[in-house]
Amino acid sequence: MTPDTEMELARQESPAAGDTPVGPRMEKLANAGKLTSKNADLHWLYEQSVQNAEVEAGFISKVFKREFGREPAFLREDFCGTALLCSEWVKANAIHTALGVDLDGPTLVWGTVNNVTPLGERASAVTLVLDDVRNVTSPRADVLAATNFSWWGFKTRSEFERYLRGAYANIKDEGMLMMDCYGGPEAQVPQLEEREEEGFDYVWDQDTFNPITNEIRCKIHFKFPNGSKLKNAFQYDWRLWSLPETCDLLKEVGFRKTVIYWEGADKDGEPNGIFKPSREGDLAPAWVAYILAFR
Ligand SMILES: C[S@@+](CC[C@H](N)C(=O)[O-])C[C@H]1O[C@@H](n2cnc3c(N)ncnc32)[C@H](O)[C@@H]1O
Repeated sequence: MTPDTEMELARQESPAAGDTPVGPRMEKLANAGKLTSKNADLHWLYEQSVQNAEVEAGFISKVFKREFGREPAFLREDFCGTALLCSEWVKANAIHTALGVDLDGPTLVWGTVNNVTPLGERASAVTLVLDDVRNVTSPRADVLAATNFSWWGFKTRSEFERYLRGAYANIKDEGMLMMDCYGGPEAQVPQLEEREEEGFDYVWDQDTFNPITNEIRCKIHFKFPNGSKLKNAFQYDWRLWSLPETCDLLKEVGFRKTVIYWEGADKDGEPNGIFKPSREGDLAPAWVAYILAFR
């Protein structure tokens, strides 16, 4: 199937096709303190509390330019969900184009309505494909991004290796893979972490961890000013892959070099959102890092 046909399929699967973007309505409710479990949009809540796609798009360009001395043009986003990164990518530079791949049709439709169509003339620079990332084998990209730990869904070494071999093949000879990863002792204990967002609270629920298999089950809940909750809004069943085992596999499948970008800290020791190449990291109880692998 061509990407167009696949997108058509996605459209037919969801009643949301043709809808207008939810952002303005959600923002109004959030600012008035009137978001509730009944009126809040799940994908909007997720994008507000989990993603920082504009910053990630800038980071990708910076790292690629540092390695290859030129602006990358074509980004493939595996596990693209609502295609927010694809959309920020094409917004950032007129030469940018993007391909997003996800196997969830309604999520792709939501992304089309809320993120891609609002790009106006630039919307045609984004192609969305409804498929398993392992089935989409062309075209080759300057950058392949797999973010928010989605590759942790591959729980066995052979499954993960198969995915990475495909990723390597899907990148141009001068190209780069970007994945994020988290860890630290706190990543291995069941715990709840709450954060206030504008108009709602985000709750990260690290529900179970198996130290023998490194399988980890996590959930996202949302809480609202009127006391209502959206429990288990998103659920993840992952294997927590470590940085060294991931870097070993990247090397095995052919990547020439891997670099870990580690997050810095502010004067109070809190993460500052600035990621730099590091060989040592630090002993933060919980950390998020980027893995960059170069062909
Ligand atoms: C955690 S969300 C990530 C969304 C977004 N990329 C982000 O950074 O927040 C994971 C997404 O991966 C998709 N997904 C999981 N396994 C997949 C696979 N094998 N092929 C394609 N998409 C997959 C799910 O449908 C879901 O939309």
